[in-house]
Amino acid sequence: MKAFVLSSSPRRDGNSAILAGEIAAGLRETGHEADLVFADDFLKDFLRDCRTCRDSDGNCSIDDGFRSVFLDKFLPADGFIAATPVYWYGPSAQLKAFFDRMFCYYAASYPGSAGVIERMKNKRLGLAISSEETFPMVAAAVLTQFQEYARYSRSTFVGVVHGFGNSRGDVRRDPGDPIGAARRFGRDFFTRAATDYRVDTVRPARMWDFAEVRGD
Ligand SMILES: Cc1cc2nc3c(=O)[nH]c(=O)nc-3n(C[C@H](O)[C@H](O)[C@H](O)COP(=O)(O)O)c2cc1C
Repeated sequence: MKAFVLSSSPRRDGNSAILAGEIAAGLRETGHEADLVFADDFLKDFLRDCRTCRDSDGNCSIDDGFRSVFLDKFLPADGFIAATPVYWYGPSAQLKAFFDRMFCYYAASYPGSAGVIERMKNKRLGLAISSEETFPMVAAAVLTQFQEYARYSRSTFVGVVHGFGNSRGDVRRDPGDPIGAARRFGRDFFTRAATDYRVDTVRPARMWDFAEVRGD
């Protein structure tokens, strides 16, 4: 399987980037492809008003690397893992901009939007978060956005690794061992049980029988 891992902090050697690197390493250890990309390398602008921004063929005219990353790395991936620091109780602006800019290709005014929408669906999604504060709701806004994006795109929100720290590398000293958790998360990202029941979901009595839970 192929995973697209987006590190969205401006600190390339920061805490969330460390978690992203561990997840990518775990994915590769188990034979998957992991493309680890830094948002600051390709995302240079916010979403604009599409009516004035699109060229006469309907293409987005923002001239940065988003187009090729989105079309050639994000869309073909079976899994998308985003790493972000908590900034003001939300995600980094880079991660938010990544989601916002999808609109340039998803909207009906883009000629290839139907194919884009089809390929946005049915991915496995994961999050790696770093924050200074440890109270349980500190990343609630980030989680909520991911959960809703997963629902909307008919994707599966597999889980979250959250490390605590402030200065660069602090997560390595987090006694909760987010480094180990990130490596394990990467290893079983494509196989771990991920459920979201409805009242009428047919489900096994034994939660950890993976084959039954996954419906294999
Ligand atoms: C602009 C900004 C806003 C922040 N807001 C919060 C916050 O609301 N809650 C929190 O726990 N930490 C906050 N932090 C701390 C970072 O989440 C923390 O240092 C994190 O580990 C940074 O991750 P990074 O090294 O991947 O950039 C903030 C840091 C910055 C620079």
